[in-house]
Amino acid sequence: MVRLGVNIDHVATVREARKTSYPSPLKAAFIAEEAGADGITMHIRQDKRHIQESDISDVISHTLLPVNVELATVPEMVDIVSNLKPAHCCLVPERVEEITTEGGLDIIKFSSEVSNAINKLKSNNIFVSLFIEPEIDLIEKAIDLGVDAIEFNTSLYSDAKNKDDIELQLKRIQKAAEFTVKNSNLEIHAGHGLNYYNIKFIREINEIIEYNIGHSIIARAVNTGLYNAVYEMRKLLRCI
Ligand code: PXP
Repeated sequence: MVRLGVNIDHVATVREARKTSYPSPLKAAFIAEEAGADGITMHIRQDKRHIQESDISDVISHTLLPVNVELATVPEMVDIVSNLKPAHCCLVPERVEEITTEGGLDIIKFSSEVSNAINKLKSNNIFVSLFIEPEIDLIEKAIDLGVDAIEFNTSLYSDAKNKDDIELQLKRIQKAAEFTVKNSNLEIHAGHGLNYYNIKFIREINEIIEYNIGHSIIARAVNTGLYNAVYEMRKLLRCI
C-alpha cells in the first residue's frame, strides 16, 4: 500500500501573505488526517517564508500522523529540526531566491555537509531521507551515507511536455527505483509537481512506497472549497 504525505506549506503561505492567524496549517493537518493521509510534510525554509517552528510543533503535538520536515543541510536548520524531533525529515537543497525546490540535493558535491546533517538528525532518532535526482551515482552515495530513505525528485517528469519526454522520465525513475530495491533496503519516496493527472502513470512504479504532494492538493482545495466560502459570506451579508 502506498502512503500519501500531504505537504501543507501553502496553507502557511496564504497566512503569511497577510500575517494573520488563519488559515491554520494545524487545521489543514486535522483535515488531511481525517481524509486518511499517512503523514504531514512541512518545509521549514531558512527565510521562514511559510512554515514556522510553531507550526511543526503544533502538528507534532496535536495529530497522530508522522510529521516529515524538509530542511536544508545548514547547521542552524539541522539544530532547529533536531530540537523539534519530527518522526521523519528530508534533506533538500535550498536557494533563498528560489520559488520552490530546484532539483535534487547534490549529495556527492556536498557530501560532508550532508553527512554532518544526517549524523545529527539520526542521533535524535529522526528517520532521514534525501531528496535526490533518480540517478544511479546518487543512489549509490545515499546508500553509503546510511540514510533510511530517498525521495526522487519528480520535477522533470511533472514538467515533461510531450509523450516521449514523459515516457523517458518515467523510465528514468523506474530504472532508479529498480536499482535501489536491488542494492539496498532504502525506502523509495517521490515528489514534486505531482498532480491529479500525472500521478496516474508514476503510480505504476511499484517500488515507490510514499508520495509527498502539496501544491496540487492545496490548489484543488481552493477550487473545490470556493463555492461554499462565497455562499457562507453571502449568508452573513444577508444577500440570501
Ligand atoms: N518533496 C519535496 C522534497 C519538496 O521540496 C516538495 C515541495 O516543497 C514536495 C515534495 C511537494 O511538491 P509539490 O508542492 O509540487 O507537490
